[in-house]
Amino acid sequence: KPDNWVDIIEVGTRDGLQIEAKIIPAAKKIEIINAMIDSGLRQFEVTSFVSPKAVPQLADAVEVMAGVKRRADTCLMALVPNVKGAERAAATGLDAAVLFCSASETHNFKNLNRRIQDSIDGFAPIMETLQQAGIGAVGAVATAFGCPFEGEIETVNMLRIVRAYVALGIDHLTLGDTTGMATPNNVRSTVRMLQDQFPQLKISLHLHNTRGVGLANVVVGLEEGIRRFDSSVGGLGGCPFAAGATGNICTEDLVYLLAESGYETGVDLRKSIDVALMMEQALEKPLPGQVMRAGERL
Ligand code: HMG
Ligand code: MG
Repeated sequence: KPDNWVDIIEVGTRDGLQIEAKIIPAAKKIEIINAMIDSGLRQFEVTSFVSPKAVPQLADAVEVMAGVKRRADTCLMALVPNVKGAERAAATGLDAAVLFCSASETHNFKNLNRRIQDSIDGFAPIMETLQQAGIGAVGAVATAFGCPFEGEIETVNMLRIVRAYVALGIDHLTLGDTTGMATPNNVRSTVRMLQDQFPQLKISLHLHNTRGVGLANVVVGLEEGIRRFDSSVGGLGGCPFAAGATGNICTEDLVYLLAESGYETGVDLRKSIDVALMMEQALEKPLPGQVMRAGERL
C-alpha cells in the first residue's frame, strides 16, 4: 500500500442498520454489500453475531455472510459479544471478530447486560473459540470519548479493557465514539496517551457524527498518525442501547475528505454515492450524508 493510504472500514450494514426499525431483507443487504465491494471498499463490519432479541435487524448474520461475493482483498468483520456469537461466526468464514466493551459501566450494562469486569472475563473463552476457527480479533472500546449516561469516562476503565485485549494478543484497537462526544482535544489526548502506553497497537477511530464534528475528529486523527477509520454508508448508524445515538461519520463524505486531502483509499466516490442512494431507497427515508446530495466536485 502507498504511504498515503488510509483504510476505510465500512460499518453501514452493522452499526448503520442495527438501529433501523425497518428490516431490510438479507438479499438486499447482500446486494448493497456487493455494490460496496465493487465501489472499492475492502474492509467491512458486515453484521453482528449478537442476540436477535437485542438486535432483530441482524438476526440474518449467517445468511448475509454466505451471500457476500468476496474478492481476494475483502476482509469481513462482525461484532461478537460472547461464545455463542463466536460459534455462530465460526461457521461463516468470518475474517475477524470485533470484541467490544464499553468504558462506561452504565452503557456496558445496557448494551451487553453485564459489568465491565464480566465482559473482560468473557474475552478469553471467546478468543479460544475464534482461534480454533482461525478467526482474527479486533478489540473495541465503546464510549471511549464520553458516555451519554455518565458523562466523562474513567481512563482506568478504558485502560483495563485495552490491557485485557493486549494480554490476549489482540493488536488492533478501535476507539468508539458512541454518541459523538469526541472532540479534537479529547481525540488528540486519548490517541496520544494510548500510542504512548501501547506503541505496538494499531488504532482505528470509530466516530459518530452526533454533534457534527466527526470529520474534524478525523483530521485530528490523521494528524496523530491514525490511518484507519470506520464509517457508514449515507451516515447511517447508532447504538440502540445508548441515549440519543445517531449516525456514524458518512462513508462518501469521508472518501471525499480523504481524496481532497491527498490520501488514497481505493474507493470510487461516484460508486460510493450510488451505494448510498441504493441504501436510501431500501430504507425509504433520506439519509444524512452530504456528498450524496451535492455530488462530486466538478
Ligand atoms: P443476555 O440476555 O444477558 O444473554 O444478553 P443470555 O446469554 O442470557 O441470552 C439471552 C438469549 O439470547 C438466549 O436465547 C440466548 O441463546 C440468546 P433464549 O434462550 O432466550 O431463546 N443469545 C444469542 N443468540 C444468538 N447469538 C448470540 C447470542 N447470545 C445470546 N451471540 C447479550 C447478552 C450479549 C447476548 C445481548 O445483550 C446482546 O446480544 N447484546 C448485543 C448488543 C448490541 O449489538 N449492541 C449494539 C452494538 S454495540 C455499538 O453499537 C457500539 C459500537 O458501534 C462502538 C461505538 O459506537 O462506540 C461497537
Ligand atoms: Mg458505533
